[in-house]
Amino acid sequence: MNKSIQHFALIFLFTVGTGNFTSAAPDRTTAAHDPMPTKIPDHIILTWSDDPATTQSVTWRTDTSIVESYGEIARADASPNFIHYTNIIDAKTENFLLDDYCANYHSITFTNLHPNTLYLYRVGSEDNWRSEWFQFRTASRESEPFTFIYLGDGQNNLLSMWSRSIRGAYSAAPDARFIIHAGDLVSFSDSYLQWSKWFEAAGWINGMAPSIPVPGNHEYYHGSGKKRYLTDYWRPQFTLPENGIDSLPESNYYIDFQGLRILAMNSNEHLEEQAEWLETVLKDNPNRWTIATFHHTIYAATVNRDHKKLRETWKPLFDKYHVDLVLAGHDHAYSRGHNIDPNIGISDPQTGTVYVVSVSGPKMYDLTDDRWMDRAAENTQLYQVISVDQKTLSYRSYTVTGELYDAFQVIKKKNKPNKIIDQKPQNFPERTFQNTLSIPK
Ligand SMILES: [Fe+2]
Repeated sequence: MNKSIQHFALIFLFTVGTGNFTSAAPDRTTAAHDPMPTKIPDHIILTWSDDPATTQSVTWRTDTSIVESYGEIARADASPNFIHYTNIIDAKTENFLLDDYCANYHSITFTNLHPNTLYLYRVGSEDNWRSEWFQFRTASRESEPFTFIYLGDGQNNLLSMWSRSIRGAYSAAPDARFIIHAGDLVSFSDSYLQWSKWFEAAGWINGMAPSIPVPGNHEYYHGSGKKRYLTDYWRPQFTLPENGIDSLPESNYYIDFQGLRILAMNSNEHLEEQAEWLETVLKDNPNRWTIATFHHTIYAATVNRDHKKLRETWKPLFDKYHVDLVLAGHDHAYSRGHNIDPNIGISDPQTGTVYVVSVSGPKMYDLTDDRWMDRAAENTQLYQVISVDQKTLSYRSYTVTGELYDAFQVIKKKNKPNKIIDQKPQNFPERTFQNTLSIPK
């Protein structure tokens, strides 16, 4: 079967398809939980809005009858006696109303925490409408080794098919200190049903490992005229830093974690303004490692998605300040390469920002014929586990069936460019639409 016929077959199988790429199947999975809020806290999610060594933010929702809510926190101990040594903090409550959906979103930032310390918390309100106790660890003040997870677009079939990505990732890396979501968490930004499925798929993982999300184009909606706006769900659902540009509160920010600066950027708008901000946070950066994450790609993995303006606006700064790694989504395929010339195709291992595009959900596009990448995949859901220590950043990308699909190391050299060691599995052929269409029964 040639490629176009195979695509037709996939389209037939999956019901929906456009042009040369395949969309996910219609999501008929019924949420196990009521997608509407109740008195019981749900959609509980850890994020940071301040220093990860001394603070921890948590956000959750209830129905609108819960107007006073709180969080309770204690130093963790193996004894259940910790419940006698808790502090109770009032939550900030925000009423939310959009179309036929209404909820109260509650948030707390626990402060004055001890670095590198395990805590327990729960959230709720009077009358025992409380969550279970969740554990989290604050960041160390030192550059101690740690691991984190990075996921590309979830976006479609969130409960039915993306769930295995987030759950597989956390099962592979239960010590992950945070999870990066590189945009397009959902497909319809204003769909409470999709957000409910996103939260249900992640479940208690969101209560244990802080999320670092950036918005994709699908977190935007079309307003009047041609203007697009970030969904009203974003800010109530995620309590994030406001240390980016003023016009993008909580969607452009940075977080420092144990010697790593994470630049979270909003590639949907205000690119030049964020470039100015980027220069300030790269120029004054005490961290050994720097990664940037945003939705759109500096180098397109798939066809007809080249974003020249983004590349010309941000890449010179990644080069100038030797950003180690850029993690993106958007293209619904997998690609990894480094230091690519703007004309695409010329690579120079000496300066080495590594660019990665990945996808965790089931919507899949064709790879571009501009093969700038050192490793690529079509039609494959993946998750990434990345470990960082003083000298080495170790990157591993796994298929959702748990096979190591790609790996490399970035070695820090004093006053020299990074050294990149390609460790992709040699006996694992590139996954393409061509060779992944038929699966043995
Ligand atoms: Fe997407």
